[in-house]
Amino acid sequence: MTEMIKERQEGIFLPFAPREYNEVGEEAIAVHWKEEELIQPKEKFIRQANMADVGIYERFSEKNYPECFKEYADMLSWDRYWTETLDASNPPFFKWFVGGKLNACYNCVDRHLQKYGNKAAIIFAPEPENEPYQFITYRELHRRVNEFAALLLDMGVKENDVVTFHLPMVAELPISMLACARIGAIHSEVFGGFSSKAVAERADDAESKVLITMDSYHRSGRVIDHKARADESVNQCKETKIEKVLIWERYPGKYSSSTPLVEGRDYLINDLLENYRGKRVKPLSKPAEDTLFLMYTSGTTARPKGCQHSIGGYLSYVAGTSKYLFDIHPEDTYWCLADIGWITGHSYIVYGPLSIAATSVIFEGTPTYPDAGRSWRIAEDLHVNIFHTSPTMIRMIRRDGPDEPDKYNYHFKLMCTVGEAIEPEVWRWYYDKVGKGEAAIIDTWWQTENGGVIGSNLPALRAMKPGSCGIGMPGIYPVIFDEQGNEIEKGSGKAGNICIKWPWPGSFQTIWKDPDRYVETYYSKYSKVGSKDYRDYYYFAGDGAVQAADGSFRILGRIDDVINVAGHRLGAKEIESSSGTNEEVAESAVVAKKDAIKGTVVDLYVVLKPGFEPSKELEAKIRNKVSTDIGPIARPSRVHIVPDMPKTRSGKIMRRVLAAISNKEGVGDVTSLANPEIVEVIKNQVQEQQESVLV
Ligand code: WTA
Repeated sequence: MTEMIKERQEGIFLPFAPREYNEVGEEAIAVHWKEEELIQPKEKFIRQANMADVGIYERFSEKNYPECFKEYADMLSWDRYWTETLDASNPPFFKWFVGGKLNACYNCVDRHLQKYGNKAAIIFAPEPENEPYQFITYRELHRRVNEFAALLLDMGVKENDVVTFHLPMVAELPISMLACARIGAIHSEVFGGFSSKAVAERADDAESKVLITMDSYHRSGRVIDHKARADESVNQCKETKIEKVLIWERYPGKYSSSTPLVEGRDYLINDLLENYRGKRVKPLSKPAEDTLFLMYTSGTTARPKGCQHSIGGYLSYVAGTSKYLFDIHPEDTYWCLADIGWITGHSYIVYGPLSIAATSVIFEGTPTYPDAGRSWRIAEDLHVNIFHTSPTMIRMIRRDGPDEPDKYNYHFKLMCTVGEAIEPEVWRWYYDKVGKGEAAIIDTWWQTENGGVIGSNLPALRAMKPGSCGIGMPGIYPVIFDEQGNEIEKGSGKAGNICIKWPWPGSFQTIWKDPDRYVETYYSKYSKVGSKDYRDYYYFAGDGAVQAADGSFRILGRIDDVINVAGHRLGAKEIESSSGTNEEVAESAVVAKKDAIKGTVVDLYVVLKPGFEPSKELEAKIRNKVSTDIGPIARPSRVHIVPDMPKTRSGKIMRRVLAAISNKEGVGDVTSLANPEIVEVIKNQVQEQQESVLV
């Protein structure tokens, strides 16, 4: 029996005293976080869980690798069974389920018709509350996907062409994805909130000739004229000519965009579909190792990387994790608030849930519009029982409506968080208020590159620990290395770079058209590149992490976010977490500020909850709290109480912009931010303060 299972069965509680500040060298990141208590999932949850057998960790242990992943692949329907589970003859380019053939659309739609044909596959929740929910059954989804697939074929889309999408959160997005998958085309969705320039760059890189977009959509009370961006994108493409723009109408038959249709280039999909009524397209049987989609990740400086995901490995991994980790049963109503424009939406709104016959909710709007009760009304109306969102969203809905969940009659069995580490204090609000103390929580750590979650606790098998994602998922073996490549032992209190030893089926195949960058970025740091033995390869995630004595990983954030103060590396997240324990604080972000004497000092940006006013006293209080929690070394030199944080459209705080302001450097291009206007406001405030200090 593994140590973990023993601990769980004995209900071992692991109360560590808050750690004293410990001296560590440059090679490791000092960790000052205190251990959090363990919280057990409720028995009611465990009794109904898809995976309540502790033996799974044994089944997926190293001695059963790689054959263990057969368990996930067997959740799919294969046209031809594979002959080789893992082909690792050319590392780090790994191939899974080689020799197997399947179709992703068939697996997500057709095969459910017999049993679940009349069950909702997708429920579309429009932003305007006076518009009804749209329930799309598996049968209806099948019809719509087939008709659109037939249309795409007539538009000249061929197997392995990359079709770029720029679609908002509407049901037409998964319909388009599935239609491409059906005919063997590769889709590349660019997040709907991204600029036309971002679309053009990605379409260029993918050499897309077809762009799929929508005329308009609703967001935060506004109607966005989305098609206008498509025109700009086409004009901004440098290397590729987009020959066709296919446009879904938000209200079929009522074109709602200010821009005219360009003759011979623009096509209204809903008009054309009239000619495809009842058309059926046979799902194309594809080799497991062919590509299902590209998902670009935006680097802050370098060109975006097109992460290339496979059909068989990816779909197996998201099916397996949707079932065991997200605990989705066909009877559940599952709602993930992420945007399908990000990997979370691809894996855990569309492919994972639909592959296991779920009912998946798609919400067009934002959770705090028109008020902070909106999410809970949807949850109540639709009987949502699995709720998935990010710490940013949780902080936002808490800030705007801390008591709103009480007013609604919904019950979640499971709640999920993804995208950044969640501060224990925010976790507790999520648990107590949103989950009403009933729901289990999974904190899911992974990246666009990974295809599916790689670090989390299976919810019925391990106790929850606020702020920690948990252990490696079954078959995923994380290790933490210091800068010299020495493995950092669990429970040592030292953090380092988290890596994954050995490949797994969900992992991306390469960076589109750039295999050298793939090897360099992810495998050059700790792998013996050139070796033919897959055991010499460690996937470098670029995140700092620490592992507690009980095996739980705590992710400290991107390694670039690590701040080196007077020779000590501090995880940005732990300072932010400490700041967040002040009752006045809604959000915190720390950045490194250059200092003539100390080299670097910590600058802390804070947004207050409503009802609290900025003051010198409050700044001092926050500063002292960090000093008490972590040590004087982490004491922020300045606390800037600002009205809002600069954020990406996916809700991540852009620390780079704040750092530039603190250091009086140019902030660079901020047009991709969700709220670019805040940058000037913060800049004026901070630089004014700095001047007043000099006087
Ligand atoms: C961060 C999102 C802590 C991490 C699926 C990672 C997290 C980056 C967590 C990837 C988590 C994601 N706890 N940090 N549960 N989940 N991250 O590619 O820094 O948009 O490297 O994928 O988000 O972001 P991406």
